[in-house]
Amino acid sequence: MDIEKVIENLSIEEKIRLLVGAGFSTKVPGAAGETRAIERLNIPSIVLSDGPAGVRIHPVRFKDATTYYATAFPNEVVLSSTWNTALVELVGRAIGEEAREYGVDVMLSPGLNMYRVPLCGRNFEYFSEDPLLAGELAAAYVRGVQSVGVGATLKHFVANEQETNRRMVDVVVSERALREIYLRAFEIAIERSRPWAVMGAYNKLYGKYCVQNEWLLTKILRGDLKFDGLIMTDWFAGDNPVEQIKAGTDLIMPGDDSTVQALLEAYRRGELDGRTIDARARKVLELISKTPKYKGYTPSNRPNLDEHAKIAYEAAVEGAVLLKNDNALPIAPDRRVAIFGRGSYLTIKGGLGSGDTHPRYAISIVDGLRERGVKLYEELDRIYRETILLKWIGVDVLSWFKHSRENAMKEGNIHGISWILTDFIESIMAHQAGVFIPENFLGDWIIEKAARESDVALITISRVSSEGFDRKPTKGDFYLRDDEYELIAKVSDIFHRHGKKVIVILNVPGPIEIVSWRDLVDAILVIWTPGQEAGRVAADIILGRATPSGKLPLTWPCDLYEIPAMRTFPGEPRDNPQRVVYEEGIYIGYRYYDTFAVEPAYEFGYGLSYTTFEYGDLSVAREGDSIVVKLKVRNSGRYPGKEAVQIYIRAPRGRIEKPFQELKGFHKTKLLNPGEEEEIAIKIPLKYLASFSGTKWIIEQGTYEIRVGASSRDIRLATTITIESDICFNTDWSTTHC
Ligand code: BGC
Repeated sequence: MDIEKVIENLSIEEKIRLLVGAGFSTKVPGAAGETRAIERLNIPSIVLSDGPAGVRIHPVRFKDATTYYATAFPNEVVLSSTWNTALVELVGRAIGEEAREYGVDVMLSPGLNMYRVPLCGRNFEYFSEDPLLAGELAAAYVRGVQSVGVGATLKHFVANEQETNRRMVDVVVSERALREIYLRAFEIAIERSRPWAVMGAYNKLYGKYCVQNEWLLTKILRGDLKFDGLIMTDWFAGDNPVEQIKAGTDLIMPGDDSTVQALLEAYRRGELDGRTIDARARKVLELISKTPKYKGYTPSNRPNLDEHAKIAYEAAVEGAVLLKNDNALPIAPDRRVAIFGRGSYLTIKGGLGSGDTHPRYAISIVDGLRERGVKLYEELDRIYRETILLKWIGVDVLSWFKHSRENAMKEGNIHGISWILTDFIESIMAHQAGVFIPENFLGDWIIEKAARESDVALITISRVSSEGFDRKPTKGDFYLRDDEYELIAKVSDIFHRHGKKVIVILNVPGPIEIVSWRDLVDAILVIWTPGQEAGRVAADIILGRATPSGKLPLTWPCDLYEIPAMRTFPGEPRDNPQRVVYEEGIYIGYRYYDTFAVEPAYEFGYGLSYTTFEYGDLSVAREGDSIVVKLKVRNSGRYPGKEAVQIYIRAPRGRIEKPFQELKGFHKTKLLNPGEEEEIAIKIPLKYLASFSGTKWIIEQGTYEIRVGASSRDIRLATTITIESDICFNTDWSTTHC
């Protein structure tokens, strides 16, 4: 596309139409938005779709026999627990392929906000409490999506760390924390993957809506972060479209005609100048010109769902984190397993909201175990199925509902409100919310009988979280309900009396309180919200067909209220927060725990394996603008496995206050067989050592400790490197005098 020529040929009204979306997509039902076409000049309308866990479109269409199911990949919290950039890139690629084959041009993912508090309702759509881990994994995801010619969007820029009053809450954070933590994740992702788009967040920053904040969008994002793609708003964000365009937003989403009109009038009144409109239209045209739609690609509507299911499985296996294992796992294949807990049957595949997906299937934990040939304790299984109405008067309600709905849609006998209702019910069914039953409904006799007649107990605890709401600091969400606690306590007591082990699976979008009950059980495996392959993943890890290698991308707290950010979350006034102050500054996650010597339940970077690894031969050298850390890792145990190696750097005591240590590099090994070794070289840009002070970045002179660990508190090797004199940079990383 000769963009300059197109701009010359466009009328002012046409240019403005380019800056305003055309509403929710009609070309691809269920997709979140599309742009406006200018047919006269062969500018097509492109389609944008959510969301991090896969392509979110309607799986069935009115009077259409084709189905449009999309793979439910693991949520981002699972992807980050893999610490595996290559694998996340593969996931991104598969998502990109599905998008392309379904006629989607730009994905509205990945999410890149930080885990400030475990209660943020969308943490499952974000990666980490650490900006390096988050930024690197987001970059991998983006590279994957964009490798097949589909765009990716980093969202939500910036400081959108809560759902409570997300559309108006004003975030106040020190500039140092903003730059070192919240912007840093975006900066790394932009630098390492050149995303096609960034989405401005709903919230305000320093009193101004992010999407109307010129300092943020133009000075920081365009200037300091050197972003050259398209800036769009979040859906219906902000309150003034003219301010949005002036501040640096290129595309207002989802858009409507009155917004076009408002911009046109502002132009006529002289409030919006022609050069600004041209600059924004240029970005929209640049985006359109890169898309499959513009390039004439014909979507097949037949993505390779089988192939992508394998990738979803791989990522979910690698993202599972083993928190505790007192000789309980793996279990031998001939063991009989007694399965407890509603979540074993109604397993949660992912979080809700725009990050939801509509896959062909989602395998529950119990079905996964059965499929892998595990012997179940059938009497208990029957009681659960009957009690939770999965089989109701002999009919499997879930599959009956799905099929009858699909047929109704194909025949076209479903209208208006029932369309919306069906979609809603489908979403509930997809998540298998089922009916509520308390976990302590079982009589002691059946637990006793199960303990006698089976070999091991497995209990699943599930939680679901959703866009639009924060999680609750109450029983049933962050804390166990009394009936859940009772189930764990009773099953553990009875099984232990019979000399049998108890395994707990956590099917959760983020941490729950664990300290009060973890000593009761023998093993705890976190599968998070792992996508459609949930049950297969759990089964293979339990059976030792896969060795867990996931590590926590966040600190697992002992209790919520030890987290400093909880003092101000979700802002003031508490019942309707207008303003939230990030008082903790840079002390988010492990930066707080390590600096102030607070003991978490499980530390950042923690995760057990069935095998063991030996670290050795550490060396570090300065190479130009980087530090290169080399070491060897050997599988010294009995199972094949992978290891997520972490490099933390501890700064010398200087003028600027620093956290105890910070993650500056990481590497996931390949699958190492027992005895096998991998040589690792990790390059750390020198600028990662800098802290923001006043108006510039400073690397203070002195001796830095390079700490190589299996977690943030399991440091295996250490050495030092000395920086001879202070090094300073401007906000755009050009060097300057100190
Ligand atoms: C969400 C975005 C999403 C958009 C479109 C908004 O409510 O915050 O993440 O991409 O809707 O569905």
